[in-house]
Amino acid sequence: MNQDSGVTLDKITSLAKRRGFVYPTSDIYGGLTSSYDYGPLGAELMRNIRNLWWRDLVTCREDMVGLDSQILLHPETWVASGHVTAFNDPLVEDKVTHKRYRADHLIESWLEKNPQAEKVVVEGMNLEDLAAFIEKNRVKTPDGNEVFPPKAFNIMFQTAVGVVEGDKMPVYLRGETAQGIFTHFANILNSTRVQLPFGVGQIGKSFRNEITTGQFVFRTLEFEQAEIEYFFDPEKTDWQELFKEWQDAMWQFVHGTLGIREEKLRWRRHSDAERSFYSKETYDLEYEYPFGFKELWGIAYRTDYDLQQHIDHSGKDLRYKDPQNPSRTIVPHVIEPSVGVNRVLLMAMCDAYWEDKENNRTVMRFKPNLAPYKAAVFPLVKNKPEITGKAREVFHMLAKRMGTSWDDRGNIGKRYFYQDEIGTPFCITIDYQTLEDNTVTVRERDSMKQERVAIEALCERLLKEIEA
Ligand code: GAP
Repeated sequence: MNQDSGVTLDKITSLAKRRGFVYPTSDIYGGLTSSYDYGPLGAELMRNIRNLWWRDLVTCREDMVGLDSQILLHPETWVASGHVTAFNDPLVEDKVTHKRYRADHLIESWLEKNPQAEKVVVEGMNLEDLAAFIEKNRVKTPDGNEVFPPKAFNIMFQTAVGVVEGDKMPVYLRGETAQGIFTHFANILNSTRVQLPFGVGQIGKSFRNEITTGQFVFRTLEFEQAEIEYFFDPEKTDWQELFKEWQDAMWQFVHGTLGIREEKLRWRRHSDAERSFYSKETYDLEYEYPFGFKELWGIAYRTDYDLQQHIDHSGKDLRYKDPQNPSRTIVPHVIEPSVGVNRVLLMAMCDAYWEDKENNRTVMRFKPNLAPYKAAVFPLVKNKPEITGKAREVFHMLAKRMGTSWDDRGNIGKRYFYQDEIGTPFCITIDYQTLEDNTVTVRERDSMKQERVAIEALCERLLKEIEA
């Protein structure tokens, strides 16, 4: 729990549902495990995150292009990438209830409850290490029962193309968006004017058959990734410098663009045991969620592993010709920053949450560029057509330029209270004075200060504050 703001995961989960950010999937049927939908407010917040990520890391960079590849890829893709054989979670089964749990997660919660125990790094433990730890420390399930030894469980979702039994082709829902980028490497080279070093960014759904417990949208079966594969020639670009540049870009995005507090962020380097065998360096940018510091955004130096695997499996030439020396061809190396958009949303909500005890209100202090609505327009009264007509004019003027909400229900105090809870930075009231001098009241969310602004200056004034 974060003492200063009052945030807990329960409060975020309840506000998210109450105010239309996040609903449990198939709620009327009792929900679906680790699955969530984004309501009217959540859909806007997700869109803002995606747009800002794309703007900062694709559009505004000379060395980046975008891609939108499918969820269903040729199944050989996943054999080449190693997902079919090695994309596994270590699972244990409760000897009595037969419920399944992630062995590493059981150990982590055991360690939290036993702070006096010897510190161990759970990440990167193999099946034998996990089994030994569980046995030695008699780790039990939340129901208090013993477990069978851990087994590897592949987390790729399988489905099939075709309708005729016996003639169906098994395919997978992608486990990461990255492989769509690697498999199009040659197409991108041949169809655009990019030269190394350059990167390809993509945002889209990924799927993992994860066994998870109670961390809301932090870990779900279906989620959205925003991934970059940054290709370079290791003889011409120092990978350590490039790695650092990307770490700086990630930090700048989270702290600078999204306004997340720096004291809630930290880097964690993966140990040799934890790192994938093909990765030369991996760091996680972690955020302090209400359940502790956890991975928000990973960055890995994947060498030439993926392109080389696809060359071997497809038989296609995915090499790059050095423009300065056309007789030299190389398989580019890659640095990969990869983030879950849903984890960014959860971070944004946790970081924005603030119980303003003095004024008896809850405020989502989103940076204005993240806020689902930038402005809310209120006619002071509902039954005066001059006032509602003028308010509608203001609403339509603003709505063309920024997310704007219309509210004519209840008294102004209640409307402020609601907009504070969904994080709207500016509330605009159209009243009797508006009819005389064409000014409106603008009330700022955090300071609650009010001022009169001329309607003709309103839009530019708000945009200036939102883009600041
Ligand atoms: N291509 C590399 C890759 O997929 P990863 O660490 O497995 O690496 C990258 O995933 C990011 O995707 C993570 O840092 C996290 O933000 C997000 N992510 C992974 N699994 C997730 C899940 N089950 N639910 C939500 N987000 C997830």
